[in-house]
Amino acid sequence: MRKTIIAGNWKMNKTFLEADDFFANLVENIEDKELFGVEIVVCPPSLYLELASDTAQESAIFMGAQNVSEHDSGAFTGEISAPMLSSMDLEFCIVGHSERRKYFGDTDELVNMKIQNLLKNNISPIVCLGESLAERENEQTKEVVLGQLEGAFHNIEMSEEIVIAYEPIWAIGTGKTASPQQAQEIHKLIRDWLSEKYSDEIAGKTHILYGGSMNPGNVENLLQQPDIDGGLIGGASLETGKFNDMIDVAIALRNN
Ligand code: 13P
Repeated sequence: MRKTIIAGNWKMNKTFLEADDFFANLVENIEDKELFGVEIVVCPPSLYLELASDTAQESAIFMGAQNVSEHDSGAFTGEISAPMLSSMDLEFCIVGHSERRKYFGDTDELVNMKIQNLLKNNISPIVCLGESLAERENEQTKEVVLGQLEGAFHNIEMSEEIVIAYEPIWAIGTGKTASPQQAQEIHKLIRDWLSEKYSDEIAGKTHILYGGSMNPGNVENLLQQPDIDGGLIGGASLETGKFNDMIDVAIALRNN
């Protein structure tokens, strides 16, 4: 049975002290809780990965990076490699986020190389994809998502370690969430693609997260959809109260 993954993507936010406070609060919130198959993941800026890794070791929280180089090592100033992330005991790494695609030129081919590097180093990639507003309005959503899937997973042997995040670009940071029906439609499309390309077993085991203005008010309806296995949360993951509330909703749904 798939878990429910509640993952926070902090993007470029929080100072070290704020990160430290956040982790202390999160650990306290979940310390005595039965999680009922809810997995909590936080992806802070890489600068704080040591703090994150120490927190993960002392708690039930998993940690992830927000990006990785497609190279293993060498003269790539400012970059961080998969072997480095692995040496910090990280479990997850986001790849192909639309902000990386837009501002840093991450293509499907680069995303593919990054996924391969992460898998070689036993880190679970959280592979992001999703359409822009113009693509949705032109009814190209399915074509775009299927194209991104083909590109990202070209020649990749699928494993349950891989997580996919459907993040419609028009819903990211805009306060405009996809309706549960809109999100479910694309999550099902992704699961059907996994079935066809790999197997029913792989499709059944793969976690597909929704991302895009997820918050305590809409998380319940989204998580109730059969193919939504959690959330990749930006803005609302920065506030301890909101993030804790969303974790509590996920736990309550699992416990029902
Ligand atoms: P928001 O939750 O701020 O819309 O961001 C979503 C996201 O991009 C997570 O990766």
